Formats: sequence, C-alpha cells, structure tokens
Amino acid sequence: MKHEEMIAFEILLQKNAHHVTTLIDDMLHSRTQEGEIVRPERLLEAMRHGALAGGKRLRPFLLMSSAALFDANPTLALHVAASLECVHCYSLIHDDLPAMDDDDLRRGQPTVHKAFDEATAILAGDALLTLAFDILASLTQSFDISAQTLLHLIRSLARSSGVGGMVGGQMLDLAAVRECPEETGIITLQAMKTGALIRYACEAGALIGGATPADQARLAAFGENIGLAFQLADDLLDATSTTSALGKKAGKDGQAGKATLIALHGVSWARQQLEGLIRQADEILAPFDERADPLRQAARFIVQRQN
Ligand code: IPE
Ligand code: IPE
Ligand code: MG
Ligand code: MG
Ligand code: MG
Repeated sequence: MKHEEMIAFEILLQKNAHHVTTLIDDMLHSRTQEGEIVRPERLLEAMRHGALAGGKRLRPFLLMSSAALFDANPTLALHVAASLECVHCYSLIHDDLPAMDDDDLRRGQPTVHKAFDEATAILAGDALLTLAFDILASLTQSFDISAQTLLHLIRSLARSSGVGGMVGGQMLDLAAVRECPEETGIITLQAMKTGALIRYACEAGALIGGATPADQARLAAFGENIGLAFQLADDLLDATSTTSALGKKAGKDGQAGKATLIALHGVSWARQQLEGLIRQADEILAPFDERADPLRQAARFIVQRQN
C-alpha cells in the first residue's frame, strides 16, 4: 500500500475501533444484569484497563468487513466483533502475566497486573472471557439470528479460543522455550495462539452474512493465511522495532528464547515469507469484487504496520 492508502486505511480502522470500544464500554457498566449479584468496581476497572485502552481492533475490523461482504446486519456484526475482542483482550492480559511473558507495558500503558495486581489481572481476564460468551448468547434478544447460527458461532469461538486453539497455542509457545520445535511445529503453535482467533474473525463474518459453505471456507482460508502473517509480522516487529513505536517491550522474544521463525530463519527470510503469504491471501479473495477491498487492505496493513 502506498503511504496515503495506508493513512486512509488507518483512519478507517480507527473509526471502526471507536464503535467497538464504545460497545465494550457499554457492557462494562456497574449495574448488574439479570442473574448477577454484584459487580466489584475494582474488577470492572481492571477489565476496562485491559479492554478499552488502545488496541488496533484488527480482529473486529476483519469480522465486520467479512460480514459486510455478505451483507450481514452491521450492528449484529459489531456485537459479534466486540465479543471476539473481549477474548483477544483477555488473552493479552494473561499473556503479559509474570508466569507467562512477564511484560510491564501493553498498548503504551502499564499491563493490567502492573496497574492493579496479579490476582486482579487473572480475574479480569476470566471475566472478559465469560463476557464474550454472554454477548453471543444474548444476541437473540436484539437480532434476528437463528438458533443454529448462534450455536455455530458460540462453538466456533469456544474452539478457536480453547485447548485446541489460542489457549493450546499459548501452552505450546511456553513449552517451546525449553525445547525449540522445527519450522512446522512453530507454524502450528502460531496458527493456534494467534491464527485461530483471526481465522474465526473472517469465518464468523461470513457465517452471520449467510455465506455459502464454499465462501465460508474461502474466508476461513484467508483468515488462516493472514493469521500466520500477523504473528510473523509481530515477531519481525519484536526483532526490529522499538518499545516506544510498539507500545510494548521490543526485543523480548530473542531475550526470552521464544521459538519464532525469525530465530530460525532470520529477518530477511521473514520479510520474503510475509510477501508470499499476502500474495496468497490476495489470490484467495480473487473471486470477490471490490467489496472485498477492506479485507485486501487489512492483509496489506498486517505486513506494513509499525505496531
Ligand atoms: C498482539 O495482538 C498479540 C498477538 C497476537 C501477536 P495485536 O497486535 O492485535 O494487539 P492490539 O489489540 O492491537 O493491542
Ligand atoms: C501472543 O503472542 C498471542 C496471544 C496473546 C494469544 P505474543 O506473546 O507474541 O504477543 P505480544 O508480542 O506479547 O503482543
Ligand atoms: Mg506470548
Ligand atoms: Mg507476549
Ligand atoms: Mg510478540
């Protein structure tokens, strides 16, 4: 993307992010919902810290752009996107804990366990994860969505997030520090810890848009592809950028002995690989007209982003 195109895309991303942030903020009020007893204020504050302060909101953008491609209700897509972002924010809060990556800075701010304490950070993550499923399960109250589609969404988010998805990937990521796997092992762990939620974003948009199974599979393949690209770019930025540009500590992966493709093959290999992944992503979207341009731009953004 040319510089001006990149700026225009970033404005679009920010506009979308604002809607997502507003919706999550609305959910984190202190009034109790039916079935709840009390909402502890300190826990709510920690959840707000982890979920509202910054973030590119790229997964919501992917979900909403994929939904728009199939003419889904944009407000429904926004709710599903907010639910996914809650899972993502929880994953970051836990990823930063001393028992995991032990990071002090996230999105240019102290991490949740630094701003609060470890126990509160664990609980804030837990509560964001359950909020995500509350948002999905409540969709039928405001939207015309079939029980079948809703259950599909819930199951698919659970599987992308859980033992065979993001959480499983985090487990493999930690294990790989002691015993560095081969390239295919690294790709598997990255497809899980990061790819699974990005794939879900693209596939869920198609699902709520009522896309054909073939188109859903196409969007899932696109998501898998850019998911790998996303983590490769994250690892590349860790190796080449600065803490102030990233808003999180740079140079951590090498220091911590993380198993990354950069550690295995180096920076210039990774740059080439990224270009290849994005070309493939473009090919996957070839059957779609210009209405898929936001997704094409998102793929480019993943490679060119500075944080
Ligand atoms: C960071 O994700 C964690 C990874 C999966 C590499 P993002 O780079 O999307 O983080 P935010 O949400 O924009 O802060
Ligand atoms: C994190 O990967 C992936 C998840 C949070 C699931 P990283 O550990 O590389 O993410 P950053 O670099 O801390 O954002
Ligand atoms: Mg990590
Ligand atoms: Mg980390
Ligand atoms: Mg990283």
